[in-house]
Amino acid sequence: MKTIQLNNNQEIPAVGFGVFMIPNDGPTYDATLAALKAGYRHIDTAAGYMNESDVGKAIKDSGIDRKEIFITSKLWLQDYGYENAKKGIETSLKYLQTDYIDLYLLHQPYGDYLGAWKALEEAVEEGKIKSIGISNITVNLWNKFKNGMNITPVVNQVEFNPFTQQRELRKVMEESNIKLEAWYPLGHGNKDLLENETIVSLANKYNKNAGQIILRWIYQEGVISLPKSTNPQRMQGNIDIFDFELTQEETETIQALDTGKATHNPEDPANETRLMGLKIHD
Ligand code: A2P
Repeated sequence: MKTIQLNNNQEIPAVGFGVFMIPNDGPTYDATLAALKAGYRHIDTAAGYMNESDVGKAIKDSGIDRKEIFITSKLWLQDYGYENAKKGIETSLKYLQTDYIDLYLLHQPYGDYLGAWKALEEAVEEGKIKSIGISNITVNLWNKFKNGMNITPVVNQVEFNPFTQQRELRKVMEESNIKLEAWYPLGHGNKDLLENETIVSLANKYNKNAGQIILRWIYQEGVISLPKSTNPQRMQGNIDIFDFELTQEETETIQALDTGKATHNPEDPANETRLMGLKIHD
């Protein structure tokens, strides 16, 4: 698995297995174990997905050395604020059955964000977390929070795929050497994307499927992707993208597919209200 270097010199596997919306108590356990068997060494979960315990169990049962696996999790809004965040980190460590988390993100950009960030920074100093990052941060939100941070985030995990290329955000993140991570890298199964003519013709040329072309393109853009699949063949295929290379011209034809739009707008007050109301524990 190829890796990408973060601004603190940590290496992150370029493709991770995302477990968003896979239920706990079985399905996430099975999917994570299957992903590890298929060769994934980077699992992306979140307290808010409510499946960290299945991820932890699968990693333990896989028999793979903990040091070979890169675990990402995220703090949920309910646990923001300095004191709550400290507890939230401990809960993630407990569910994941580990004494350190490779990468821990602030999942959503609301509430007492900087109080929570301070707790993440301290957890880095204590060795409980190796790297910390942000998620769903727009340029405006970055400008709002950046001056209150001592440690520069290593990543910003946002919606990203050929239809949603986040050009302005990428430019701003690059200035601080913050890597982008792509959620919904395959457009969450969007047929218009997966059956797009440009993508399909490249898939035919390289004898790959549409998803592999998209994930290869994302890798060549220097963006970390977190594809999700519960289908064993596609799961395997989604990391089999390092034996071919798109030409410069081909990457540009995919760049031309950008709509400049995203399905999720973190600055929409309705999203803030909805997400702030989601409780994951008592
Ligand atoms: P499935 O689980 O049946 O493979 P995203 O990662 O952008 O959220 O997209 C996930 C969706 O894309 C899932 O519905 C998944 O379905 C589908 N998917 C995953 N990998 C591929 C692929 N290589 N080609 C087409 N669809 C895929």
